[in-house]
Amino acid sequence: MTTILVDNDLCTRCGICSDVCPMAIVTPADENTLPAINDTAAGMCIQCGHCEVSCPSQALLLNVRPDEKIPLPAGAGIISPENITFYLKKRRSVREFSKKFVSKEKILDILEISRYAASGGNGQPVQWIVVSDPKKVKKIAGLTIEWMKTLLNSDHPMSNYIPVLIGAWVSGRDVICRDAPHLLFAHIPENNPSASVDAIIALTHVDVAAPAFNIGTCWAGLVAMAALSYEPIQKEIGIPEGRKSAYAMMFGYPLYKTYGIPRRKPLEVIWN
Ligand SMILES: Cc1cc2nc3c(=O)[nH]c(=O)nc-3n(C[C@H](O)[C@H](O)[C@H](O)COP(=O)(O)O)c2cc1C
Ligand code: SF4
Ligand code: SF4
Repeated sequence: MTTILVDNDLCTRCGICSDVCPMAIVTPADENTLPAINDTAAGMCIQCGHCEVSCPSQALLLNVRPDEKIPLPAGAGIISPENITFYLKKRRSVREFSKKFVSKEKILDILEISRYAASGGNGQPVQWIVVSDPKKVKKIAGLTIEWMKTLLNSDHPMSNYIPVLIGAWVSGRDVICRDAPHLLFAHIPENNPSASVDAIIALTHVDVAAPAFNIGTCWAGLVAMAALSYEPIQKEIGIPEGRKSAYAMMFGYPLYKTYGIPRRKPLEVIWN
C-alpha cells in the first residue's frame, strides 16, 4: 500500500513534507519525481500525519483512513495569550457536582479531543471506561475504602490519612468520589513502558477541555491508586484483559462557580 499520495499538479516541490517527517522517511521531490516513501521505509511510518498537515498546497494525502481528513478552517482554534492564560489559570478541581448527568454526546465530544494528545511514538494506547451509574460510582468509592483498610498500620505513605478518610466515609461523606455522577478511567496495555505517561497526557486534555463544555473534573487519585492493585475494584470497573487502569477522574456539572484565581507557589526556574 502507498503510504502517501501526492498530487502532481498541486505539489510545488517545496520539500516541507520531507523536512517535517519525524522518521525522515519522505524522500524529497526533484524536478522529475514527487515526494515518496519507499517500500522498505513504509513500515517505519508512525502515522503522525505531519507530512500531510504541513503541506501548504494540500497536495499530499496520508493514505491511512484517508476519508478521515479533517479540514482546518482559516483562523480556527486561535486563542490569544491573555485568554489561554486566564482559561488555564482558572481551571479548578471540582468536588461538588450537580446530580444532572452529562450526555453521552458531550462526553464523546470531550474524549474525541483527547485522541489528538501526544503519545510516545504516536502509539495512542489510551482507551476509556466511563462509569455513569451513581450506584456504581458509590460502589467503587466503597471498594476504595476497603482497599484503604488493607493499608492500615502499614508503612504505606497514605497510612496516616486513612483513618480520617475512613471516618468521614463512615459518617456518610463520600470523600473518595465526591458523589460525582460520572467516573472516567483511562486504561492502557499492561506492557507498554510509555503508556502511563500517554494516559496522563490524554487525561490532562480531558481535564483542560472539559470546562469549555461547562463540565467540571477532579483527578481521582485515591480510586486510581486502589485500581492499580486491588482486584475487587479492577473487576468492578471492568478493565479489559491485558490492560490496566492508568488513572481515574471524576466529572459532572459543577455545583458552584469560582470567582478568582488561587495563590500558588512562585515559579522556580534554573536558566542554564
Ligand atoms: C494526580 C492527582 C491526584 C489527585 N487526587 C485527588 C483525589 O483523590 N481527591 C481529590 O479531592 N482531589 C484530587 N486531586 C486534586 C488536587 O487536590 C488539586 O489539583 C489541587 O488541590 C489543586 O487544586 P486545583 O486543581 O483546583 O488547582 C488530585 C490531583 C492530581 C493532579
Ligand atoms: S505520517 Fe509522519 S512518519 Fe509517516 S511519513 Fe508522514 S510525517 Fe513521516
Ligand atoms: S509539502 Fe506538499 S507541496 Fe511541498 S513537496 Fe511535499 S507534497 Fe509537495
